[in-house]
Amino acid sequence: MNTEHERIALDEAVRTCTLCPLAETRTNAVPGDGPVPARILFIGEAPGRNEDTKGVPFVGRAGSILNGLLEGIDVARDDVFITNIVKCRPPKNRDPNQEEIEACRPYLDSQLSLIRPEVIVPLGRFAMRWVLESYGIAPGPISEVHGKVFRIQTISGERVIIPVYHPAATIYRPAFREVLAADFETIRAVLDNSMAPDRLGR
Ligand code: URA
Ligand code: SF4
Repeated sequence: MNTEHERIALDEAVRTCTLCPLAETRTNAVPGDGPVPARILFIGEAPGRNEDTKGVPFVGRAGSILNGLLEGIDVARDDVFITNIVKCRPPKNRDPNQEEIEACRPYLDSQLSLIRPEVIVPLGRFAMRWVLESYGIAPGPISEVHGKVFRIQTISGERVIIPVYHPAATIYRPAFREVLAADFETIRAVLDNSMAPDRLGR
């Protein structure tokens, strides 16, 4: 199977998945959105109401904030991959629990091997913790960790992790908007500086 076929199969598996109880309450599972491979992978927490309705990640208010941040660093949304730790909306937007996260984990693992991102950007405390822990890094508080550049050596080369605040955080704390914009400039700088010779012409 080529990458695009694998991606279609994976999306279909997510859309029909019943591996955890969130399957019973979701309207649509939300596999993720974007090209494979992609240079950047954004990982949020879980779909919200709008995402559940449409089956697409970050289409509500948090989504328009994310779009604005991407525009600010001249990155097209169509060029990045966006997904969540769990693919189905938890009732009343509660935090996903351990059982749901573990059940859903293989989908994100498969996405990582298809997308092969140079830069992973966890959005918010929840995704930050999951991503750093899965690379064996003890996560600090997001107030200290946001905007930091973690460089991980993998068998397929260097991978960079840059955690940022969740875009929705700016709704209640407008001051976070500038912090997020500054952290996105770090993302831009890392992308601009990476030679990524093996990724040219992909
Ligand atoms: N918040 C998230 O974490 N993910 C979405 O897809 C939308 C809002
Ligand atoms: Fe399956 Fe993940 Fe949805 Fe649970 S959250 S039903 S594991 S796709």
